[in-house]
Amino acid sequence: METGYGHVLVVGGTGMLSGMTKWLAKRSKSLTLVARHPQRLATELGCISYPLDWSAPNAIDILPDRKFNLLISWLHKDGLWLARPFEDLLVSGGRSIRIHGSTSLKMGIRAKVDPNPRKDIRRTTVVLGWIADSNTRRWLSNREISDGVIEAIGTPFRETVVIGTAHAI
Ligand SMILES: NC(=O)c1ccc[n+]([C@@H]2O[C@H](COP(=O)([O-])OP(=O)(O)OC[C@H]3O[C@@H](n4cnc5c(N)ncnc54)[C@H](OP(=O)(O)O)[C@@H]3O)[C@@H](O)[C@H]2O)c1
Repeated sequence: METGYGHVLVVGGTGMLSGMTKWLAKRSKSLTLVARHPQRLATELGCISYPLDWSAPNAIDILPDRKFNLLISWLHKDGLWLARPFEDLLVSGGRSIRIHGSTSLKMGIRAKVDPNPRKDIRRTTVVLGWIADSNTRRWLSNREISDGVIEAIGTPFRETVVIGTAHAI
């Protein structure tokens, strides 16, 4: 088994990102999976289940008590307050992959969804766009989203990876 990504923390990786989580579990020394109900996928993958509700006021007090090399985080609005505390669990020189909806490209939103970046880690932002199909557009499939995040993991020099199309407005 490859263990190249070291100790990995995945937040919100049990739904649309589960393909990426499965891929990463095979390439990590350990993978800790945070969600309200991570148990089923964690058991399937043999990884560490870490049940946590990011909207709970005490969530900040019960974050994992260890350091990680790589963080993948998909947080809804009510979990954004934990973006930095999750990044604080990275070792110096670690990597953070933050996943955002396309509205994050709007002026002024970016700073709100990715506040206060740490200087000693590398962050790549993945923006979920859409796919243009002749006259219409459609949302990304879960497969496209997972593949895009895997691409971001493999290209650490990129600051932003847009999956499909998204415009700054
Ligand atoms: N541009 C696009 O194409 C685009 C953009 C955004 C979303 N989408 C689509 O929209 C669908 C829905 O997105 P989604 O984010 O609702 O679903 P999701 O990514 O499938 O699931 C959300 C993830 O966050 C966790 N989570 C949710 N609330 C949580 C909480 N309070 N505390 C801790 N973890 C929590 C969930 O696990 P638990 O439920 O166990 O907590 C799960 O791991 C996706 O399937 C995707 O296809 C598309």
